[in-house]
Amino acid sequence: MNETIKRPRGTKDILPQEQNYWRYIENIVEKKFLSFDFGKITTPSFEHISLFNRGVGETSDIVQKEMFLVKKSDITESDNEENYVLRPEGTAGIVRAYLEKGMQVWPQPVKLYYFEPMFRYCRPQKGRYREFWQFGFEIIGSQSTQTDILSIMLIWQIFNDLGLSEKDIIIDINTIGCKNCRNKINKSLAQYFQKYQKNLCPTCQSRFLKNPLRILDCKETKCQKIISSAPQIIDSVCKNCKLDFKQVLEGLDELNIPYDLNPKLVRGLDYYTKTTFEVRDLKDKTRQSSLGGGGRYDDLVEQFGGNNTPAIGFAAGIERIVNILIEKQTKISTCQKSEIYVIQIGDKAEKKALKLIYDLSNKGFNVNCTMGKTSLKSQLKSANKSGAKLALILGQREIFDKSIIVRDMQDSSQESIPFSKVEELIYRKLRS
Ligand code: HAM
Repeated sequence: MNETIKRPRGTKDILPQEQNYWRYIENIVEKKFLSFDFGKITTPSFEHISLFNRGVGETSDIVQKEMFLVKKSDITESDNEENYVLRPEGTAGIVRAYLEKGMQVWPQPVKLYYFEPMFRYCRPQKGRYREFWQFGFEIIGSQSTQTDILSIMLIWQIFNDLGLSEKDIIIDINTIGCKNCRNKINKSLAQYFQKYQKNLCPTCQSRFLKNPLRILDCKETKCQKIISSAPQIIDSVCKNCKLDFKQVLEGLDELNIPYDLNPKLVRGLDYYTKTTFEVRDLKDKTRQSSLGGGGRYDDLVEQFGGNNTPAIGFAAGIERIVNILIEKQTKISTCQKSEIYVIQIGDKAEKKALKLIYDLSNKGFNVNCTMGKTSLKSQLKSANKSGAKLALILGQREIFDKSIIVRDMQDSSQESIPFSKVEELIYRKLRS
């Protein structure tokens, strides 16, 4: 016997029951962003590898070990222009599009949101997939700290609208300073980590040489111990960055949005500057507790060849949100239910039923029926399950005397009426 083909490691089949949660999240996210005048953007699923090398940064895990290369089956090493990777995150592609599509001349800031799959070749485990979905947003062209506050406010409101409150989540927040602070921060961290260099994990040993700040992001137990006594970033940031951070925190206090100051939060991507934040699942103590993360990236547009354009953004992992909604047994309203269930017994009834279904759904009713031949009992059972308010029953007798049975599914009462009167009755029962 042939072996069955399994789905690739780290991917998911999202079946109809779970799709209800996805639809629920997408609707809430979309409603919020549209009400704040964000536009939706979709960028390609694959991009040139250099976009992420330059954007996300060579000391990030994504670039170092998680890129999904896309290859044509007969590609040769010299086919450089076809060095593509599946998008591991959304920000770099959106900044590319901002420059390529001339969004610099649009009214600033440009506010964009997305709901898309991302791909990272990571080690799969619960809440960590090789293909996963994110909703996210980018606000490009504003340096005001009010934009930081509004961004965090939006995120907080979206999570609240999803049914997650301060009992479930917390916002971790920090500042990692502007590009002028970076030298001072790295110098003070390098000085500290030098003593422990040999005890750091291999990844952090390389971070030590390239970007000591990123060591703070390591989750290895042996590095965590060393990190716990590392110098505070805030002590090395400039006066302006301190002032900005203070304004952001005051703004959040004003709005009563709860947060935890986390002086070690640096985020896993190299483009960040100043305010960084994460939404953390309070009940999850694993590495996958981050439901979403973001921050300022004031230098990325310039790094990609544009003018100096400060920006801020955030992205959240849909699978992780779905997991906690399921764990919390969050009740969500499912999609539109059937209103009418058409039941047919016999070949002639089947034909007449098809025409009835076609006509009623053309008139805007949600009509459902059983596909294939089954008994009256089993069709009634399906009608019940479908949530339909009315069942219309056509059997041999009804065909013979041009009638139809209309059954009220709520109180199980039923009446036989002339077929020609069925639409009139339906309008009266369902639309009056
Ligand atoms: P990130 O922290 O890499 O940030 O990802 C954001 C969220 O995506 C994470 O908090 C997590 O919920 C989810 N996520 C990441 N990797 C996985 C995975 N392998 N499996 C399941 N979920 C995952 C970014 O992607 C930035 N682009 C966010 C941003 C936007 N910063 C500025 N603008």
